[in-house]
Amino acid sequence: MTKKPGKAGPGGIRVLKTRIKKKSGLKESSRRWLERHMNDPYVQRSKAAGYRSRAAYKLIEIDDKHHLLKPGMRVIDLGAAPGGWCQVAAARTKSTPEHPNVVGIDYLEMDAVPGAPVLLMDFLDEDAPEKLAEALGGPPDIVMSDMAAPTTGHRQTDHIRTMHLCEVAADFAVSVLKPGGHFLAKTFQGGTENSVLTMLKQNFRSVHHVKPPASREESAELYLLAKDFKGRS
Ligand SMILES: C[S@@+](CC[C@H](N)C(=O)[O-])C[C@H]1O[C@@H](n2cnc3c(N)ncnc32)[C@H](O)[C@@H]1O
Repeated sequence: MTKKPGKAGPGGIRVLKTRIKKKSGLKESSRRWLERHMNDPYVQRSKAAGYRSRAAYKLIEIDDKHHLLKPGMRVIDLGAAPGGWCQVAAARTKSTPEHPNVVGIDYLEMDAVPGAPVLLMDFLDEDAPEKLAEALGGPPDIVMSDMAAPTTGHRQTDHIRTMHLCEVAADFAVSVLKPGGHFLAKTFQGGTENSVLTMLKQNFRSVHHVKPPASREESAELYLLAKDFKGRS
């Protein structure tokens, strides 16, 4: 492994460029992944700031631009592990362990985030919506989902599975959100079904696709942001 000075990344942090030798014993795809990960300025910045994931910066960048999270708001975080979005949401809504107003769900275990209890269960379980509503103690102002299906190695299958999670999350959001609330969910370029977009456009005053700078340019990942829920009639 060798290190060379690199360019300044986001936040102006200058990182050392790490190279992993081709003869490292790793498979070429793993070697490239590790090299990219170690040289990713968002990974280094999130470690320095104490965030659980580089994904935390996706929410920070979206929220800095769209001003969704406010003190006192109730938030549901679908697909919460390892907890970066929970950390950002808890800090921006000023949630406390005594009166948590952020609740997450994931079937993977994660370390607790103060002010953001997380249910250890599959969001697709029949009783997940009820359990989430119970844990939050009132209707959410924001439903956000960074859920991604486990990768199979077949890109199209992975995208279809994650799209399905996005659709279920969208249906959930319109069934629980407060009027004026927002829905944010991971999706893929060209992936969102027209039926979901139409449903969201009927239920929210504006619907956008957003790609925060922290979402890798070469990735087809996008976020669907539906703002200002009209309410259930
Ligand atoms: C990209 S990660 C989320 C990262 C998170 N936003 C953060 O900042 O740390 C996607 C997560 O979605 C979770 N997930 C995928 N399908 C799920 C499901 N059906 N129910 C609950 N969690 C799910 C995965 O276990 C994974 O932890």
